[in-house]
Amino acid sequence: MNRSHNEVAVITGGSAGLGLALTEELVDRGWSVVTDARDADRLHAALPNSPRVTSLAGDVRDRDHQDAIAAAVARHGRLDLLVHNASDLGPMLPLAEATANHLSTVLETNLIGPLTLTQRLLPYLIASRGTLVGISSDAAVEHYPTWGTYAASKAALDHLILTLGEENGISAYAVDPGDMRTAMHQAAFPGEDISDRPLPESVVPHLLGLLAAGPASGRYQAADFSLEADASSLSNGATR
Ligand SMILES: NC(=O)c1ccc[n+]([C@@H]2O[C@H](COP(=O)([O-])OP(=O)(O)OC[C@H]3O[C@@H](n4cnc5c(N)ncnc54)[C@H](OP(=O)(O)O)[C@@H]3O)[C@@H](O)[C@H]2O)c1
Repeated sequence: MNRSHNEVAVITGGSAGLGLALTEELVDRGWSVVTDARDADRLHAALPNSPRVTSLAGDVRDRDHQDAIAAAVARHGRLDLLVHNASDLGPMLPLAEATANHLSTVLETNLIGPLTLTQRLLPYLIASRGTLVGISSDAAVEHYPTWGTYAASKAALDHLILTLGEENGISAYAVDPGDMRTAMHQAAFPGEDISDRPLPESVVPHLLGLLAAGPASGRYQAADFSLEADASSLSNGATR
């Protein structure tokens, strides 16, 4: 396992929820992180630019924004971890009522954006023998009524991530983080008290545990991993 300082991650959707928690933890561990979100004010309030944080306001669907992310990675000259975390829940509707527009909007954010951004960043990931992660959901393998558009996008994202891994000889993980107390979860359960769901910060050690363990590429549940077993391996360290 090669270990070096200055490891670099791209994490989409870093202004809130899991993306923010993961970004903060990796930066604390000595990584440099390039991240984004659409709402510039919220992004820069959560993660002001600093030597180890590059916060780029923009939409993962936007090719010019993807170019800006790629330019930030080029300035670092390496990429060890790419996490597709930003996501669109879409409309919570029975599929009989979903329109083509609903589906294409969700796919643009959850599937096509991640594909085209990965394509731009692949040379760096391959050169660093880096790790590609798609944040998935149990909805990708279950068939919950009214979750169909989101679920289909996550199932397709899993497939895309794992195929990119096979094609390019890099570790690739489709990771179900489990329920988290976030804005997206509240949007999925409007009016419901979600205070019993774990905070995203509590999921991060499991995600880092997966990266530290470096299992074979595949689909995993974050909860099945723990960082305690390999507590130091992500401090200025490698992800595989
Ligand atoms: N929360 C759960 O219970 C749960 C369960 C299973 C899986 N997940 C998955 O976990 C991941 C994180 O979810 P979360 O609950 O942490 O979400 P969240 O709290 O709603 O945060 C989403 C983040 O992504 C950004 N974002 C959304 N769309 C974007 C776009 N088109 N371009 C750039 N940034 C965008 C948001 O900022 P802006 O709005 O400003 O763009 C925000 O920073 C998602 O992939 C989600 O599907 C969540």
